Amino acid sequence: MGMAYKLEAYAEALALPFAHSLLPMEMAATALGTVEFVLGLCLLLGVNRRLTVGLSLLATCVLTALTVWIYVAEPVQDCGCFGEAITLTNGQTLAKNVVLLVAALCLLYRPLAMRRVVSERFAWLASTYAWCYTIALAIYTLHYIPVLDFTPYRIGVNMRAAFDNPEQAEAERLPVNFYVADTQTGDDLTWEILADTSYTFLLTVPRTETADDGCCDRINSLYDFCQDRRYAFCMLTASDSAGCADWKDRTGAAYPIYMAEDTEIRAMVRSNPGLMLLKDGRLVWKWGNNELPDPYVHGNNVAQWFTPSGAAPLLRLVLWFLIPLLLVVIIDNVLVGTKYYRHHLFKLHLNKQKAMRKKIVAGNWKMNMNLQEGVALAKELNEALAADKPNCGVVICTPFIHLASVAGVIDSNVIGLGAENCADKVKGAYTGEVSAEMVKSTGADYVILGHSERRAYYHETAEILKEKVNLALANSLEVIFCIGEVLEEREAGKQNEVVKAQLEGSLFDLTAEQFAHVVLAYEPVWAIGTGKTATSDQAEEMHAFIRATIAEKFGKEAAENVTILYGGSCKPSNAKELFAKPDVDGGLIGGASLKVADFKGIIDAWK
Ligand code: PGA
Repeated sequence: MGMAYKLEAYAEALALPFAHSLLPMEMAATALGTVEFVLGLCLLLGVNRRLTVGLSLLATCVLTALTVWIYVAEPVQDCGCFGEAITLTNGQTLAKNVVLLVAALCLLYRPLAMRRVVSERFAWLASTYAWCYTIALAIYTLHYIPVLDFTPYRIGVNMRAAFDNPEQAEAERLPVNFYVADTQTGDDLTWEILADTSYTFLLTVPRTETADDGCCDRINSLYDFCQDRRYAFCMLTASDSAGCADWKDRTGAAYPIYMAEDTEIRAMVRSNPGLMLLKDGRLVWKWGNNELPDPYVHGNNVAQWFTPSGAAPLLRLVLWFLIPLLLVVIIDNVLVGTKYYRHHLFKLHLNKQKAMRKKIVAGNWKMNMNLQEGVALAKELNEALAADKPNCGVVICTPFIHLASVAGVIDSNVIGLGAENCADKVKGAYTGEVSAEMVKSTGADYVILGHSERRAYYHETAEILKEKVNLALANSLEVIFCIGEVLEEREAGKQNEVVKAQLEGSLFDLTAEQFAHVVLAYEPVWAIGTGKTATSDQAEEMHAFIRATIAEKFGKEAAENVTILYGGSCKPSNAKELFAKPDVDGGLIGGASLKVADFKGIIDAWK
């Protein structure tokens, strides 16, 4: 309220149109106080450090400019920064703001050097609490009266003593300017009020025009009560006789109305209207307009209308703020020390493991390209990668008839060569088949086995694939083994089960040494050639499951070392996101491997 009055004074000095309506001032004062408080807390706790420092600097710049104006133009005597709690001269205010500005500039230089008291994770909780606390306190204060009273009219002060000894009163910040005069005659009534040994009720209405008259019935019945008991009751206002007449009209006031100085009345009770109770020259209690006492409810004994609270209000305010905040800080620190921190460490560990694993982008040409086209494509790719070295292993798997020719045009240090299939028999009368040994003899080092198209169209069972894997490994080929569920299986939520069975059926008879020569490729069948990719999260979930399954069978080390590729509509546009996942080590690329630009785009996703 003090700030709102001060803003009113500023607005008056600037002759702003809304200078005389208190509500915008109350709202502006609340907003200012709230923002200042939250920013201050964020600075102390190191919450959102860059943003906080930026906003603090902005606020200090604006307020420093304002204080320069106050210093030069002197529109008010006191800036009002601290309400009534601390009064500063305009020069002191300016000096204070210059110091704050320098401090804010220092912080701007290195905001991240500020210590974080709450982790990033819980920062929102601390700042949200600060917002709630300040806004709630502001609303409470505006609805009732301020919890802390910094005015000279504090409950308990001996106003009569202050009147008797003004010098001492000045020194002790007691009310020295309390002065009441009769509206009609101008007679000084101050002493009469202070000398009264019984209860005196003073209704404080700084301005009748802006006063809330919603509580007039309560006031009138209180006046009747005072009449009955012979307690003095009067109203103090700074409004002129027209304003007083208007108030009588609006509220039916029958009590005497006296004059007092505007600022003093505002200081008496931070509410319009407010009520102050005096007894024997002492200020006994005060009420805001939303909490006026009602004899029917509170009884006839005035002494029972108020209960002086035990604990100091300042202490209560501080505790209400600090205890929940401390709880946040403690919980945060405990969690950071345990779960969050461990999770963080675990992520670091995963990234390290991933960095150690071989990353591969493998092309699967399928049944595309005649010999000349295939050789030309391989050459083009070779040139592109010679000019711009890849950051990962690159493999192209071609139809059998291309192998020997392609081997002749690629640099085997940069591009690995592989077949798309091999026979499940060693050699002999198997017309049309190509054995693992033959594949190896072309210069190829890899072979794709278990591709979903072979499983679906050529009925390759887990048993057949097991034979093929064994023969490929026996002939020193690295196996790119494909696994993946069809759409119905995913829709039925059986993908993990299916993939696990595929692994078990064809690979689980291998030794750990043999398994070290297997690269896995997870290819959800519904994503192959359909343009429909699994999301990076779906891919990661399955890859992590596959790794866990491998860990169970072949041990942790084998699981951490096995390269798991993702396949199915992988393109330059989605490769980066997929490859960023901790368990995705590259891709098996169909359609996009037939164009150098696309294939290279995917390879470059590792850069
Ligand atoms: P796609 O095929 O990239 O064209 O979807 C992938 C694959 O079958 O390996």
